[in-house]
Amino acid sequence: MKREKIIVFDTTLRDGEQSPGASLTKTEKLEIAKVLAEMKVDVIEAGFPVSSPDDFEGVKAIAQNINGPEICGLARAIKSDIDACWSAIKYAKKSRIHTFIATSDIHLKYKLKKNRSQVLNQAVEAVKYAKKFSSNVQFSPEDATRSDFSFLCQVIEAVITAGATTINIPDTVGYSVPFEFSQLIKNIVVQVPNIRKATISVHCHNDLGMAVANSLSAIKEGARQIECTINGIGERAGNAALEEIVMSVITRNDLFPLISSVKTQQIYKVSRLVSSLTGVIVQPNKAIVGVNAFAHEAGIHQHGVLSKRITYEIMKPESIGLTESKLVLGKHSGRHAFAKRLKDLGYKLSLSQLDKVFVSFKILADRKKQIYDEDLHMLVEDEVNIDRKQREIFSLDYIHTISGNKAVPTATVRLKKEKEIIQEASCGDGPVDAAYKAIDKICGFKVTLTDYNLRAISGGKDALGEVLIKLKWKEKIINGRGSSTDIIEASAKAYLNAINKIAVKTKDKRQSIVHSR
Ligand code: KIV
Ligand code: ZN
Repeated sequence: MKREKIIVFDTTLRDGEQSPGASLTKTEKLEIAKVLAEMKVDVIEAGFPVSSPDDFEGVKAIAQNINGPEICGLARAIKSDIDACWSAIKYAKKSRIHTFIATSDIHLKYKLKKNRSQVLNQAVEAVKYAKKFSSNVQFSPEDATRSDFSFLCQVIEAVITAGATTINIPDTVGYSVPFEFSQLIKNIVVQVPNIRKATISVHCHNDLGMAVANSLSAIKEGARQIECTINGIGERAGNAALEEIVMSVITRNDLFPLISSVKTQQIYKVSRLVSSLTGVIVQPNKAIVGVNAFAHEAGIHQHGVLSKRITYEIMKPESIGLTESKLVLGKHSGRHAFAKRLKDLGYKLSLSQLDKVFVSFKILADRKKQIYDEDLHMLVEDEVNIDRKQREIFSLDYIHTISGNKAVPTATVRLKKEKEIIQEASCGDGPVDAAYKAIDKICGFKVTLTDYNLRAISGGKDALGEVLIKLKWKEKIINGRGSSTDIIEASAKAYLNAINKIAVKTKDKRQSIVHSR
């Protein structure tokens, strides 16, 4: 029997980026899109082009540079949104316009202030208009799960007649539960006469913690596309998590007889990258990608796993790219062993990238005896993005802090700004605060630290620490991350990472004003 395919529609860069404080720069979006393409998701929803010039540029850059998956842009059922969407995605080899309008009476009355026939008309006109640009048009009746069923079916039938090729059923507010949601899909299949002309998709939010369960329940009734995000990030409580959907379909293939093109061995790497670039931390007990997901603590479990893994393990850690470190690297490890390990972890680096990461590896190995896979992920993330590196306006040259229970916390910081070296000192509530104040004196941006997180990347007293921070700058939230075996240095690097994004933005703006004169 030929197995049908489940289309994995990744919306990390659109709905995921709507997570509180998860905003990404254009370069970061491109970086994530690149790994999503390598992981072979089927569709990347790259953004909502009309929503801001930054979003437009991000979607356009992805359409211009990423090959493999379809590149999709979101547009309200409004001509100007569809125009902006098409202008951004038209460069892609395979593109898709995703247009939506709410169909629930709650949204009609309080948000759209329109009646049902106006909404029906607007949906149909939007699909017809989008079809002028692309043959691949997806339509979503927003808040479908709280919509009047017969009106919902009327809209779906009409947009399919107008040319929609995918019908996406969103549980916008995460209100549904699995048996109800699967029944909704079943009823749509029965009631909408032309439904077989379109692919049925689902898009579930996690407000009641049921996004993945709801999405999976829809497969049985004919849904063949699932919209999801890496680590389940997204608006409010988030979206269905891609890693949970894909691993459920594979692990329970007896119940979901479908195939997916996703290269699951890339999952862990992509999850880490999304977490560090968005600053949204993965909870330790998160299914599939949490640090405890494959850890067996209880003696009885450890005993079972050691004698036969299947006793307590339903998936192999290797299947998501978590290799069991048979080989721990250290200061005497050679370039060959190092390169092989990175390859096993799923990285495809150029020779020059490998050289750079190898240099950082040697520096780290001098500070830290054993280098684990988690450390290697961190080194690659830190070093490979040449684009990000080139755009480092301020870099840390020297940092010295004093702290103690009877000392006034003080920091001296020296930064390089192009060829200039600038030094400042400051006191603070603690050494990190003092360092941040000294950096502020040098860089001169008015920012507020709104979030600070420190975690150890690997075990042991000499573990590499990763700091994720968020700065508020002109009503925008800017993420920063840094790592080091020294947590003050990691904190300074994270702060500078965010400051550099602001510096690049202001520099680009100044340059565009000069050019346009
Ligand atoms: O949650 C939602 O309804 C959406 C739509 C735009 C699909 O994100
Ligand atoms: Zn959504």
